[in-house]
Amino acid sequence: MGATIIDGKRIADAVRAELRPRIAGLRARGVTPGLAAVIVGDDPASVLYVKMKSQACEEMGLHSVTLRLPADAPEAGLLAEVRGLNADPGVHGILVQQPLPSQISTMRAVSSVSVDKDVDCFHPENVGLVLIGAPRFAPATPAGVIELLVRSGNDPGGKHVVILGRSNIVGRPLAALLMQKAAGANATVTVCHVKTRDLAQHTRRADILVAATGRPQLVTADMIKPGAVVVDVGVHRTDGGLVGDVAFDEVKEVAGMITPVPGGVGPMTTAMLLLNTVTAAEKLSEQR
Ligand code: GUN
Repeated sequence: MGATIIDGKRIADAVRAELRPRIAGLRARGVTPGLAAVIVGDDPASVLYVKMKSQACEEMGLHSVTLRLPADAPEAGLLAEVRGLNADPGVHGILVQQPLPSQISTMRAVSSVSVDKDVDCFHPENVGLVLIGAPRFAPATPAGVIELLVRSGNDPGGKHVVILGRSNIVGRPLAALLMQKAAGANATVTVCHVKTRDLAQHTRRADILVAATGRPQLVTADMIKPGAVVVDVGVHRTDGGLVGDVAFDEVKEVAGMITPVPGGVGPMTTAMLLLNTVTAAEKLSEQR
């Protein structure tokens, strides 16, 4: 028996539909929410991600700005652009696409974004607020994973969630969100990583398994508890098309529910970024 597919596109469309009246409310007050993306260099995946985000803004009636800097842009140049966006009243959300070239400190780049416009939730202050359970923003991909779970009938409360990967973009903040004392959280969380011994011993105990390893099709059928929910955050371009961190065809025979790649977590990340931008616009326009 095959797993039920969790349709990320449909759930993302529902999140987006709920945003429309909030956007209309802002526009009625003369505020068009604005999202700015800064990209350094021409990494094809990053260029595509930023394009998808700006397309989503256009579809939703948001103002969108994309600043593209050359791959050899100095750090000072990037920081100056971010300062300009911090001061721009038409921009309510700012993201600096990662990865950044080696001459730029990721730490200084994420720290340069105004905490009130940090819709990626990468500024150390905002990361800290997530960790202590008082988020200003929820980081888009981890929040998208939680929204997918809750809206597909898999509230993580009381469940054992095993996360594969400890990146600052997915694994770490997802663990922090899931262990909160809050709706859609209250999970028991295990974080595994490249140094974990006997990975399958941990994954087989997961009620919900989230794969964010950066390694194509690492998760195989023997690593899954029958009936478990499997969420695949990975995206890898191969000769056979896009694949995730999960060997989908075999894992779907064991799992109870599974997200596809593409069409799973990806659309949710974009929807949650739009949500954060609208929330930022609401808060910033109240302050003025
Ligand atoms: N690179 C990979 N994922 C992300 C993301 O969610 N935000 C940014 N800024 N860069 C990324």
